[in-house]
Amino acid sequence: MKILVIGSGGREHALAWKLAQSPRVFKVFVAPGNAGTAAGDGISNIPHTSTSALIDFVKAEGVGLTVVGPEAPLADGVVDAFTAAGLRIFGPTQRGAQLESSKDFAKNFMVRHGIPTAAYATFSDALSAHDYIEAQGAPIVIKADGLAAGKGVVVALTSAEAHAAVDMMLVDNRMGAAGARVVIEECLEGEEASFIVLADGRHALPLASSQDHKRLLDADRGPNTGGMGAYSPAPVVTPAVHARVMREVIDPAIAGMRADGIPYTGFLYAGLMIGRSGELKVLEFNCRMGDPETEPILMRLKSDLVTLIEHALDQTLDSVDAEWDPRVALSVVLAAEGYPENPRKGDRIEGLPDAGDDYHVFHAGTALDAEQVVVTGGRVLCVTALGHNVRTAQKRAYEIVERIRFDGMQYRHDIGHRALNARAKRASPVGPPPAAR
Ligand code: AMP
Ligand code: GLY
Repeated sequence: MKILVIGSGGREHALAWKLAQSPRVFKVFVAPGNAGTAAGDGISNIPHTSTSALIDFVKAEGVGLTVVGPEAPLADGVVDAFTAAGLRIFGPTQRGAQLESSKDFAKNFMVRHGIPTAAYATFSDALSAHDYIEAQGAPIVIKADGLAAGKGVVVALTSAEAHAAVDMMLVDNRMGAAGARVVIEECLEGEEASFIVLADGRHALPLASSQDHKRLLDADRGPNTGGMGAYSPAPVVTPAVHARVMREVIDPAIAGMRADGIPYTGFLYAGLMIGRSGELKVLEFNCRMGDPETEPILMRLKSDLVTLIEHALDQTLDSVDAEWDPRVALSVVLAAEGYPENPRKGDRIEGLPDAGDDYHVFHAGTALDAEQVVVTGGRVLCVTALGHNVRTAQKRAYEIVERIRFDGMQYRHDIGHRALNARAKRASPVGPPPAAR
């Protein structure tokens, strides 16, 4: 079978790498891809990005399955267009993708279906938003309603910051249409985790848990980013929390979308805030896998991803299980100078290692410039390694990181710190981590 992956980031490199391992697949195309997918084993790039050009390509080439990486094409309706053309594609419809493309839609949906989430109100008028902030006080969270590539959320510690965020979005229109409405919500405390499932409209198959590091700098300081590193599994997702997430969040979300007449097929990502006694609230839904969470998750997936996706398309996800490598996978993102505000492009990347058994360097913002790999985007590479515990996975990932060089390269030195703290707190003996959750 031939497969098409839509997208160009680290998530798409990991998806293509994993799909290409299926014995049933002999070719994976990535549109438009990056330097890592340009010349992988059985993987190559195609330059098309418009939906109509992709549909023509899939028909001409006899591609049997298309997998969508990022949210933008989903929100634009790529699944609706492929389906109308009679082509097999994995992802939610445009209406389903509203769970991510409109925070107001997602919040309404959660309230309607009893899914726990932070208290909120939605505004398109700045004066009422300012009044609400005065009434609620700080800390408080201001979110652009629409897609903002991870830049639409301000966790305001003071009301002055909250007022400024409202003015930035509603008065100065700095986020464009995405910020024409804002959701203002209660600031939650706890530990975040990413919980991603495959959904087939009726059933959900959970993938291994993971945890992202959203802030740019060590010790969770600096601006929010798309994610500077991740690992799987997330110790905070204990078996009890896992069961609770399925019962309180995932099952009602799948049933709720179905009841609302928008059966949801695709990856569904719940960003969770988990409190001390395991109580949980949904921070956001995404209609795709996370980046960088995908990289450690797929590094641990032993099952054939093509088979799992086919079960999702055939609505038989209740008849399969995913098998996981019990080791920990940990990913460190190497970002360009100036990321996230103003990443510099064009720097040459040196020292990229050959593939290894216990690590993989996934590409994100890279391209080939006459055989030379160069930086083209904010998050450049995602170095992912396996280890028998967080410490060894972390050590291995940073050994690989140290071989790689490009001007302005920035990365966090503490990916995995929460998991290490959790381990220290439990004072558990060093050894293999608990089986995948
Ligand atoms: P979102 O895109 O909605 O996940 O928000 C991005 C980041 O902002 C999250 O990963 C959290 O770190 C933070 N955040 C979002 N909503 C809240 C909230 N209600 N309380 C505290 N932090 C939040
Ligand atoms: N890493 C967070 C996300 O993909 O939304």
